[in-house]
Parts: sequence; structure tokens; C-alpha cells
Amino acid sequence: MDLKSLIRDIPDFPQPGILFRDITTLLRDPEGLRYTIDFLTQKCIESEFQIDCVVGMESRGFIFGAPLAYKLGSGFIPVRKKGKLPAAVHRIDYELEYGTDSLEVHQDALHPGSRVLIVDDLIATGGTASATAKLVQKIGCELVGFGFIIELRDLQGRKHLPDVPIISLVEY
Ligand code: PRP
Ligand code: HPA
Repeated sequence: MDLKSLIRDIPDFPQPGILFRDITTLLRDPEGLRYTIDFLTQKCIESEFQIDCVVGMESRGFIFGAPLAYKLGSGFIPVRKKGKLPAAVHRIDYELEYGTDSLEVHQDALHPGSRVLIVDDLIATGGTASATAKLVQKIGCELVGFGFIIELRDLQGRKHLPDVPIISLVEY
């Protein structure tokens, strides 16, 4: 299936000069959604990932991470923007183009030695995925790999990631 044909390009969003890759058109297509989850699952199985959980980042990482975890028979752990999780958290602060931001995960969700696959819809600069990797590694988890639906190659986000397998289904 041609996934690119289901991903909509929106010029000048959220700022002038940015060509936004919009996955909502993929999500609303029944065959497209099923194919995407099945394809990502297949790639993880082919990579022989042995994992305890999928970690997905707010918000679009939840959309793909939870069904992938279901298919792989693992748990799903949400990483959220600051102040959203109700119990005690581990936090990582990271640099944005302007300023900083934080990501959080529940302290009782991940443990030293937990085998983790990090999943998001898209990797652009790699800032979000890199910060999430640092967060899980700070906890002492074993980072097994990354899974993305879309990779924006020009931005070279994978350069900022640790040396583990990186799956992406569609490249621009
Ligand atoms: C987008 C996307 C990734 C991240 C990728 O999320 O879903 O999480 O940006 O960019 P990066 O590789 O440069 O870090 P966003 O922060 O827009 O949040 P959202 O999913 O809640 O819209
Ligand atoms: N599309 C969707 N999300 C994004 C993009 C994009 O092109 N760049 C950074 N986050």
C-alpha cells in the first residue's frame, strides 16, 4: 500500500515555510490504519525485538504505540508533556529551538532492565525521541529500538539517537 498517498501535505503549518505531514488522513482510512499498524508490527517482528513495553510520546505516539504494544503482546507506557501524569514521575528537560521543554513518565511504569521500544508518529529533528531515550536510559532501561511511521530525512534526526535499530515506514 502507498502510505504516502494517505498522508496529507499542509504547506505553511504551523509556521510559514514548514510543510506539515498530516497523518489524520491516514488514520481515518480503515485499510490505511490497519496496514500501518500491521506493517510496523511486522518490521518489529523481523527485527526480532525482545521487549517488555512500548513507550510512546504524547500525543501522536499514543495513536501508534498502543496498538503496536497490543499486537506485540507487551504493555504500553505513555511519556507525557509536563504536569499531565498524576503519580510520581521521572522527568527529562530538553532543548527546543526556542527555550526548553520537559517530558515525564511515571516512576512505577519503568524499571532498571525493562526492555523498551520507543514509538512516535514522526521523527523530525530527533529532539523528542532523543529526550525520551535519555529518560528511559537514565532509569536504567534497556533501549531496544525506535519505531516511527514517518522520518524527515533532511533533518537528520537519527544522528541524535543512540546506536540501536531505527524503523521508519515512510521517508521524506
Ligand atoms: C511532533 C511529533 C513528534 C515530534 C517530532 O509532536 O509527533 O513527537 O514533534 O519532532 P522532533 O523530532 O523535532 O522532536 P508535537 O511536539 O508536535 O506534539 P503532538 O504529537 O502532541 O502534536
Ligand atoms: N508533520 C507532523 N509533525 C511534525 C512535523 C511534520 O512535518 N514536523 C515536526 N513535527
